[in-house]
Amino acid sequence: MAGAADRAFRELCISFGAAFCVSELVSAKGVALGDKKSRSLLDVSEKERPYGLQLFGDDPAVMCAAAREAARNDPDFIDINMGCPAQKVVANGGGSALLNHPALVASIVAAVRNAVPARIPVSVKIRAGWDSGHINAVEIAKLAEEAGAAFITVHGRTRVQQYRPPVDLAVIRAVKQAVNIPVVGNGDVFSPKDAANMLEQTGCDMVMCGRGALGAPWLFAQISAWLNHEVNLPEPPLTEKLLVLCRQARRTAELKGEEVAAREIRKHAAWYIKGMPGAARLRARCGKLCGSDDLKQLVAEILEKSSVA
Ligand SMILES: Cc1cc2nc3c(=O)[nH]c(=O)nc-3n(C[C@H](O)[C@H](O)[C@H](O)COP(=O)(O)O)c2cc1C
Repeated sequence: MAGAADRAFRELCISFGAAFCVSELVSAKGVALGDKKSRSLLDVSEKERPYGLQLFGDDPAVMCAAAREAARNDPDFIDINMGCPAQKVVANGGGSALLNHPALVASIVAAVRNAVPARIPVSVKIRAGWDSGHINAVEIAKLAEEAGAAFITVHGRTRVQQYRPPVDLAVIRAVKQAVNIPVVGNGDVFSPKDAANMLEQTGCDMVMCGRGALGAPWLFAQISAWLNHEVNLPEPPLTEKLLVLCRQARRTAELKGEEVAAREIRKHAAWYIKGMPGAARLRARCGKLCGSDDLKQLVAEILEKSSVA
């Protein structure tokens, strides 16, 4: 997730049992033009494997050039984004805008498939369609399969719906029934029960968690425990949650430097404290965090308050 699931966070998700992670979406054009930030997003760390690099763009030749560059870092797969609803992405023809151009979808998948070594699977992430009048996930999924996609992730909402209303499981089920490649179901998985429900209602092969994992990377352990052993792992205690937040903050500082980490950890801290007593007031504090000492002080205060309460 762009601007949210960076390397520090993804490593945590893997350590809590996520089956795989995907990079933030990377502009194929940026990579092809040698843009430093785009290229740096293609780095792969051994601690976040299995790991997919996700590219977006609408030009098969540019996507090929970027995919070749991505393949040099030996990702476990390369994913093509056909679901991003952001205006700046769709305005340039990428992300979910591709759903309006099925022939282009097929060309891009085939081109990227041919551009990278066969050992690197190429996958596709799509939405249900552009809007309620154009639900075409099944058509797009079949084309992607024919063009060589190894698996497909379906977020059961249209581009116009963005993140509301609740995910449509029927469209994920329809895709699963229409293709022979594995299907990953995505949308509104916030708990082990949601994951089990997604698997049961759609028949999908795997479940992808987005927002539910933000500030709660232990969600993957909870989902695994439930799906594999029907064990209901409780929420970690407050102290442990805060320790995980501090671990993420330390790793972010290692990877991005203290200054950037100080800024970026603010939103993560706010996600971690969601649901804690006094969260609304604490959230305002999170927005003003100025580095690791500040974070330590906030954590100490939360713990002190919780022991008094
Ligand atoms: C802040 C944010 C950034 C996202 N960035 C990406 C991205 O880079 N690539 C992608 O495929 N999906 C991205 N998504 C979409 C999620 O992967 C996911 O499809 C969507 O949030 C629905 O799943 P959820 O209900 O589990 O969150 C993003 C979502 C959010 C909220």
